[in-house]
Amino acid sequence: TSNHFRHVESMATLPSGAGKISKLNAVILGEALASEEDDLIVPSQDFSAQAHICSPEKYLEMYKRSIEDPAGFWSDIASQFYWKQKWGQPVYSENLDIRKGRINIEWFKGGITNICYNCLDTNIAAGNGEKIAIYWEGNEPGVDATLTYNQLLQRVCQLSNYLKDIGIRKGDAVLIYLPMLMELPIAMLSCARIGAVHSVVFAGFSSESLAQRIMDCKPKVVITCNAVRRGPKTINLKDIVDTAMVETAQNGTVVDVCLTYENESALEKESTKWVDGRDIWWQDVVPKYPATCDVEWIDAEDPLFLLYTSGSTGKPKGVLHTTGGYMVYTATTFKYAFDYKPTDIYWCTADCGWITGHSYVTYGPLLNGATVVVFEGAPNYPNPGRCWDIVDKYKVSIFYTAPTLVRSLMREGDEHVTRYSRKSLRVLGSVGEPINPSAWRWFFNLVGDSRCPISDTWWQTETGGFMITPLPGAWPQKPGSATFPFFGVQPVIVDEKGVEIEGECSGYLCVKSSWPGAFRTLYGDHERYETTYFSAFPGYYFSGDGCRRDKDGYHWLTGRVDDVINVSGHRIGTAEVESALVSHPLCAEAAVVGFEHEVKGQGIYAFVTLVEGVPYSDDLRKSLILTVRKQIGAFAAPDRIHWAPGLPKTRSGKIMRRILRKIASRQLDELGDISTLADPGVVDQLIALSDS
Ligand code: WTA
Repeated sequence: TSNHFRHVESMATLPSGAGKISKLNAVILGEALASEEDDLIVPSQDFSAQAHICSPEKYLEMYKRSIEDPAGFWSDIASQFYWKQKWGQPVYSENLDIRKGRINIEWFKGGITNICYNCLDTNIAAGNGEKIAIYWEGNEPGVDATLTYNQLLQRVCQLSNYLKDIGIRKGDAVLIYLPMLMELPIAMLSCARIGAVHSVVFAGFSSESLAQRIMDCKPKVVITCNAVRRGPKTINLKDIVDTAMVETAQNGTVVDVCLTYENESALEKESTKWVDGRDIWWQDVVPKYPATCDVEWIDAEDPLFLLYTSGSTGKPKGVLHTTGGYMVYTATTFKYAFDYKPTDIYWCTADCGWITGHSYVTYGPLLNGATVVVFEGAPNYPNPGRCWDIVDKYKVSIFYTAPTLVRSLMREGDEHVTRYSRKSLRVLGSVGEPINPSAWRWFFNLVGDSRCPISDTWWQTETGGFMITPLPGAWPQKPGSATFPFFGVQPVIVDEKGVEIEGECSGYLCVKSSWPGAFRTLYGDHERYETTYFSAFPGYYFSGDGCRRDKDGYHWLTGRVDDVINVSGHRIGTAEVESALVSHPLCAEAAVVGFEHEVKGQGIYAFVTLVEGVPYSDDLRKSLILTVRKQIGAFAAPDRIHWAPGLPKTRSGKIMRRILRKIASRQLDELGDISTLADPGVVDQLIALSDS
């Protein structure tokens, strides 16, 4: 049939409990499982026949080895990369058990390599110099550019030479605040080439968030551009950087150089504000440097980048990734989870300002010699068909996006999809939040014409790469399930006491033992690393997510169990939004929770107590929202402000968020026991104000 997949209602033989090798064996050997309600989608024989991993048996064989002999398994894979000097013994060392002392993870230590060299030079040496590395698609249809691997290397080398010339050395931090121009991956690779540690800040963050990150990592140089067009809007990034730098300087952190790329299509050079002596136009200096640059050979455990992410409390955490393990892990996960082949054209809609853009726009694909589409604009501009227009234009075969985009396009109507061919598509991917089965089906049936498997990849900034993901040729899929662990990953589900639960269950998702792509510390705060991730359930890495494992061993992510919310796939700490709100002069107190949102997955719901005597008003509502936009960024703006004369607190003063979540989701009959509140009357007041 033309369908690469066939739907199977109540299938009989199913792989089960991949996390548990013995059980999975039993199923492969033919244990029958009755599953009435399960809608299984089985890869077609055509797809499986050409796939890297063509069957559950093949997966099992590799998975088993990866768990029983991680050193051998990962050494064999690592040997396919270029190492100036091979790693020493042991291949890895780890302590994930807080009771046994300092948490420590190392892979391939003593191995000397360079990830930029492995992305570019080795692919060129293998004869791919003239292959397209990047198809760049601008915000406006018709504005585009391409770079071959040879050209990309030249551009990277010029910037590396410039950075060296202004004194950037191995280990120095470089902050990158750029939109999705080609210069963003170029800047990342240029840092990697000379051993500088890049810290990319998503260009949707406000000047205050940017300033906070600058003060934390103290870069000598900030790389930005004058402005960007996103959809119909022009955003003046340089102004945001200027404001941030004034703030950091007042706090004693002075950035020497602000290298500014002139994005002509967004804003005239003349309208850009300038600080002489600090600001330099990229185009004035970088192209003058030689187009070759020797790489800095660095240890596998030398830092590659810092990426700030939100936690449940306090300031953003600087997640630190090192070089060797991250390189091997991102490349390998990319290859298998997307069943990547050299003829594929790959497009990931994520921004390089997030981990997905680091691992699966830049490093993972380029390490595989892939052709990557980099898109500057908004996926619904100038119309909701833009994504499929781009897919057809570049013959995209692997398309990786977030459920929020799927849901928002779903609402626009099928005709925006069906008027494009999409014939080139082969594999689809999803990331950032659980994908609800109805969005999964629309993505599968309509976008992928029921031909293309969906890799629903569960992972995190901290994990560096995919942790639980379908391997598209191997597994029957269940809409909404991330299926089984990647090679080398041992997910476990524990109860509140930290006891592993077997079989069909739900609980807290942890990981037992390390994997090469794991983060090694939080920048400048190893203690916070240990307490945040390794103390809740001693002996394990705790992800912060809840998870259910069904009778067939499939994993179903159920969302964060801490005070982090996932808004349109962006991770936001409720504490950050609260602290932005209370900085407003008229706000006395704030409590933020997530609520189910049709498009965003989760929305931000803020309960706000005003300063005594201040009346509620729509203007005040707007001004509170504006404060959050200014302090964090537009993506963190609350969807709802709920006036709260008081907040439900225990006698010891702790806010009972459980009750707030119920009020936010209008589940008023499920408030539970409110007798322990210091003043149970506040609940009625809140309910009375629900629709104000
Ligand atoms: C959520 C993004 C369900 C999860 C790569 C995790 C997911 C957080 C999935 C990490 C998925 C990511 N299914 N939930 N396929 N992918 N998440 O650090 O809650 O921005 O903890 O990394 O996103 O977000 P982060």
